[in-house]
Amino acid sequence: MTGRLDGRVAIITGGGSGLGEASSKRFAEEGANVLVADMNEDGAKRVASEIEIAGGTASAVHVDVTSRASNEAMASAALERYGTIDTIYCNAGIVGVGNAMDLEEDDWDLVNDVMLKGVWLSMRAVLPTMVDKGKGSIINQASIGGVIGVAGIFPYAAAKAGVIGMTRQAAVDFADKGVRINCICPGTVPTPLVIGTYEQRAGIGMSGGRTVEEALEVTRSKYPLGDMGEPLDIANMALFLASDESKWITGQSFIVDGGYTAV
Ligand SMILES: NC(=O)c1ccc[n+]([C@@H]2O[C@H](COP(=O)([O-])OP(=O)(O)OC[C@H]3O[C@@H](n4cnc5c(N)ncnc54)[C@H](O)[C@@H]3O)[C@@H](O)[C@H]2O)c1
Repeated sequence: MTGRLDGRVAIITGGGSGLGEASSKRFAEEGANVLVADMNEDGAKRVASEIEIAGGTASAVHVDVTSRASNEAMASAALERYGTIDTIYCNAGIVGVGNAMDLEEDDWDLVNDVMLKGVWLSMRAVLPTMVDKGKGSIINQASIGGVIGVAGIFPYAAAKAGVIGMTRQAAVDFADKGVRINCICPGTVPTPLVIGTYEQRAGIGMSGGRTVEEALEVTRSKYPLGDMGEPLDIANMALFLASDESKWITGQSFIVDGGYTAV
């Protein structure tokens, strides 16, 4: 531990699994008090307890990021338990498969409620605290799917492109209040969400007849650095954006993708 976030208070939505879990643990290793927020309470509690066992400081809270009240309760929990909020990683997400012709409206609404409106509502819940203290770092989770076309993820791509635009806009609106707002665009990191995406794409005939394992191998072979990512690859970028090392950076989206979009 080098204390890059010593004494800071961080909320991580979707912290109970995958990229959010790795980031919760990485932030705690660097000295942050971490509120692990997730709709899956068991996952959040497991991650918080693993952090505490490793000597860090963390606790779990239930949040449904699609609800304004739930996001506000999450922010209140951080204030009650740790006294302030320095950073939030708006990371919660779900699978979003389909194309523009076949997608049902309910599926569009759910995907965009969680990953676009949900990001806004999480930001909205913490901004008053950050504006009051004149400092804060918000990190939003986008995707390379918001930057380039990826077959079969139409509603997901729409939400993630929206996150990139929303991040830029909010950053401009809150720069003079001392609040920095950036987003990360990860490439493929095999997590439950990615496996679910591949399963659903195969289920609607969008994987060229390949099994999930075969389709993942094809994806792996397309990464110039030779492999898909690990959760820690994304957590390290989030850590940089949460820390003061990025104090002159706002409104940007950072692609972390093993060179995939460079081809
Ligand atoms: N894994 C990748 O390759 C990849 C690539 C680009 C972007 N992302 C993004 O990273 C984020 C995390 O994904 P992951 O791969 O770690 O997936 P994951 O499935 O491992 O974790 C997602 C977490 O979000 C939680 N969640 C879902 N809906 C929620 C809600 N309404 N309120 C609160 N929590 C909710 C889930 O319970 C889960 O714990 C997502 O936004 C995803 O779109 C992932």
